[in-house]
Amino acid sequence: MLSALKKYLLVPRLVWLSAGAPKERGVAWDRYWARVKATGAQGEVLWDSGGDHELLGYAGSLKQHLDPGLPVLDIGCGNGTLTRWLARNFPAAVGVDISSHAVERARSESTGITNVSFLTMDMTRPRAGSIVAEAYVASPGTHPPGPQDADRPEVNVFLRGVLHVLDEADQAALARNIKDLVGIRGRVFLAETDFQGNALDYVSHLGATLRSIPAPLESAIRGLPMPGHFGAAERRRAFPDSEWEVLEEGATFIETVPLRDPSTPELIPGYYAALRVKQG
Ligand SMILES: C[S@@+](CC[C@H](N)C(=O)[O-])C[C@H]1O[C@@H](n2cnc3c(N)ncnc32)[C@H](O)[C@@H]1O
Repeated sequence: MLSALKKYLLVPRLVWLSAGAPKERGVAWDRYWARVKATGAQGEVLWDSGGDHELLGYAGSLKQHLDPGLPVLDIGCGNGTLTRWLARNFPAAVGVDISSHAVERARSESTGITNVSFLTMDMTRPRAGSIVAEAYVASPGTHPPGPQDADRPEVNVFLRGVLHVLDEADQAALARNIKDLVGIRGRVFLAETDFQGNALDYVSHLGATLRSIPAPLESAIRGLPMPGHFGAAERRRAFPDSEWEVLEEGATFIETVPLRDPSTPELIPGYYAALRVKQG
């Protein structure tokens, strides 16, 4: 870890790196994904650890709270690592991402898996929930047998590392769209980074020094908006207690691709929650 004073010497480098990031978030994400050449443990995607250690930590909560008979929607799916993992436990898993390059990559990494599908959609835009429900019901083979009504969808929703990259207004818009998707039986499971500290603390936590910045971290700084943090307070603001019931919440660690030791992911303090819409 860099000493407090030395850390500030990183500021010019960070400012220089992030100066070129597109201001429009959708454009930034799509350009980021267009540049990605490799994913997984040896890859260049910061949050794609290549292992399932973190995910196995969620398995008990998913089993306890999510109806395994309903499909699951992985919002902000990126290259689809988690969509494929979810597809092992749900009849169908649908990954949705704002970036068409992410969706292209997710599709190509999922060849041969019959119960996953992907679509491109900004999930903060008005009516995104209904549009996704219509697309899902309209595409044969992507949903399990039984009634799936586009006007009253019932799906589980999974999110990892998405809310903390959105601003407050977009978090609220996304939560409203999710509400249109879960119905009575669907549940939401979210896991987000909740790092307490400023951008300098964050990058030095992930191995940035005055001499070097790990490549996956550098490409995120270079191309993407600086992430925030998402914990219980932010969850309450986006998913207010008047509309949502918290089934479980707590602390977790979000694992990144290995950055220092090639066999060990870095850990970012995080927050997880399982939610359902309050009825009546
Ligand atoms: C930090 S990555 C996490 C990816 C994936 N959930 C994972 O954990 O591997 C955030 C993802 O959210 C997507 N994203 C950002 N804003 C979005 C939006 N408004 N609607 C849908 N996806 C979005 C990005 O393109 C990116 O793939």
